[in-house]
Amino acid sequence: MGQGKGYGKTILFGEHFVVYGFKAIASAIGDCTKAKTEKGSKGKGIELVDNRPAVEGYKVKKQREINDSLDLIFKFLKIDLKKNPVKITLSGNLECASGIGASAALAASVARALNQDFNLGLNEEQINEVAYEGEKASAGNPSGIDNTASVFGGLLVFQKNLEGGKNLIERLSIKKPIEIVLANSKITQDTKEVVSDVKRFKEEDEERFQKILNEYQKVFDEGLKALKNYDLRKLGELMNKNQELLARATITCSTVEEMISIAKKEGAFGAKQTGTGRGGLVLCLTPGKELQEKVAEALEKKGFPVMKTVIGV
Ligand code: MEV
Repeated sequence: MGQGKGYGKTILFGEHFVVYGFKAIASAIGDCTKAKTEKGSKGKGIELVDNRPAVEGYKVKKQREINDSLDLIFKFLKIDLKKNPVKITLSGNLECASGIGASAALAASVARALNQDFNLGLNEEQINEVAYEGEKASAGNPSGIDNTASVFGGLLVFQKNLEGGKNLIERLSIKKPIEIVLANSKITQDTKEVVSDVKRFKEEDEERFQKILNEYQKVFDEGLKALKNYDLRKLGELMNKNQELLARATITCSTVEEMISIAKKEGAFGAKQTGTGRGGLVLCLTPGKELQEKVAEALEKKGFPVMKTVIGV
């Protein structure tokens, strides 16, 4: 038997732009997916019992992706399912939704459980490689930011190596965790689809896209500085700018914009989509328990479920 876990994540800066080799900042959140693997029944290959909490419709929409992800992981690890059928039970407190890194948390937890179950002796970096393989089912050619946050946890700067070598992973520490609200639009998006829409948008007008990327670079540089200096007002402003750039690249929708304006009206320092976007989750920067509560309550009242958590633990 093997057991493992993978954290959920949120992206403060750089989703989508990270696919093009730009630096991004992500933070794991405390909630996680747990996987248990054990000997399955002969001839059944993979038996999956999925007990993860999820927003309505998520598991149905993602069922194929979940199966594909598991197939990719087993292939990569060269585990012969005919000889070794495996039963996988997924659980944990991470509520699956677009934007929370649920697919990466699944891949990371299963990679860890199989490592233990089959005595594979993989180190953390190799676990991350396995999780990346599983992520290919949901993002096509993923940057690797989600699985990296899910495996390593904490707050980090990530940059995909477009040449195919090692990605840059830089751990960040801040003086005190920051309260955030993750509000759920209840719209489940397909990461592959949104990523390929962005690619189309880029190819339609390379110059227009490059301008957005150049502006993003400045937002990232200042954002990192603000985070390191614990200048949370500035950090929030820059998150708002990041959101404007996402919107210019067509990555938004009216529900997300409505949620962002509710959060800002209640005093959130900044609010933006996180992850795939065009739905999924909105990340609201709400330092202090009081502000966090106020923003969460307002969003909930309008029918958007919320998660209150912190980044930078
Ligand atoms: C998804 O959480 C983040 C994206 O940038 C895709 C990726 O990085 O692979 C949209």
